[in-house]
Amino acid sequence: MMSIRSLAGACLSAFAALGAFAVPASAQNYPTRTITMIVPFAAGGPTDVISRIVTAHMAQTLGQSIVIENVVGAGGTTATTRAARAANDGYTLVTGHMGTHAASVPLYPKLAYHPEKDFEPVALLAGTPILILARKDFPPKDLKEFVAYVKANAEKVNAAHAGIGSVSHASCELLNSILDVKPVGVPFNGTGPAMNALVAGQVDYMCDQIVNAVPQINAGTIKAYAVATPERNPSLPNVPTTTEAGLPAFQAQAWNAIFAPKGTSPAIIATLNAAAIKALDDDNVRKRLLELGSVIPAPANRTPEALATLVKSEIAKWTPVLKPAS
Ligand code: MLT
Repeated sequence: MMSIRSLAGACLSAFAALGAFAVPASAQNYPTRTITMIVPFAAGGPTDVISRIVTAHMAQTLGQSIVIENVVGAGGTTATTRAARAANDGYTLVTGHMGTHAASVPLYPKLAYHPEKDFEPVALLAGTPILILARKDFPPKDLKEFVAYVKANAEKVNAAHAGIGSVSHASCELLNSILDVKPVGVPFNGTGPAMNALVAGQVDYMCDQIVNAVPQINAGTIKAYAVATPERNPSLPNVPTTTEAGLPAFQAQAWNAIFAPKGTSPAIIATLNAAAIKALDDDNVRKRLLELGSVIPAPANRTPEALATLVKSEIAKWTPVLKPAS
């Protein structure tokens, strides 16, 4: 006959088994094969660089490779549409950002996805302050001269960006609206190639995420007028803030984050979130992200819920700024 103790044990095992049945087998064993991370811009740009740094560590934690697939076009919305329509099995993810998951909403009235309705937020990876950059022989020496020069030459100057709705496009729309200028926009498939054009002197200026700019600024191949955050960035101590340089109205910091297609199981989201957090706590990952000027999210901002809140607030923030431009 079964003792009370073994009866209780049997009941607990039965409950545990029932609990296990609540999680699909595919989620329990996840991941069992290679994961694809779609990056919506060209290789070598900020989204690509951040994705590669973080996913290399996540792959170790998960015991499976994470392959980066760069899918370019339409300011990142082509790739993000593809990610939204992918199977929600945890094997196709996307690194979205302030552009794909906020600025695109007012800029594309027929956007084929909605950042809040068509994705499960996984984890915020990095904040990326925006810099005002120019080719190294662009005449203005500092931000005050830049403002005067761009206003005086509004018909002639051009600004590179990574497509309508990208971070570089949206943040320069904000800058241009503050300056009341409409430069010619020169679109690229990412700010990786746009940066190459800036270094080559083929375009005049650009608003770009710091991750893409630190090596070039330090090498002296481009000019940096200011960083659009309240504080200077430790990776670029000599670059003034927009407030210090005389344009306090221009404040902009982007972000990059992992999203999964809507309906991906909560167990898979939790596994991916834990792996992302582990990566963000790794000394080597932190060092590489910080050297490039990224802002590593504080623990409270690393949950899927915090990312959902960020997306909502960023759509609300960018919609009135960008609506008139669409
Ligand atoms: C990139 O990786 O090329 C950028 O994130 C593009 C942008 O949004 O400006």
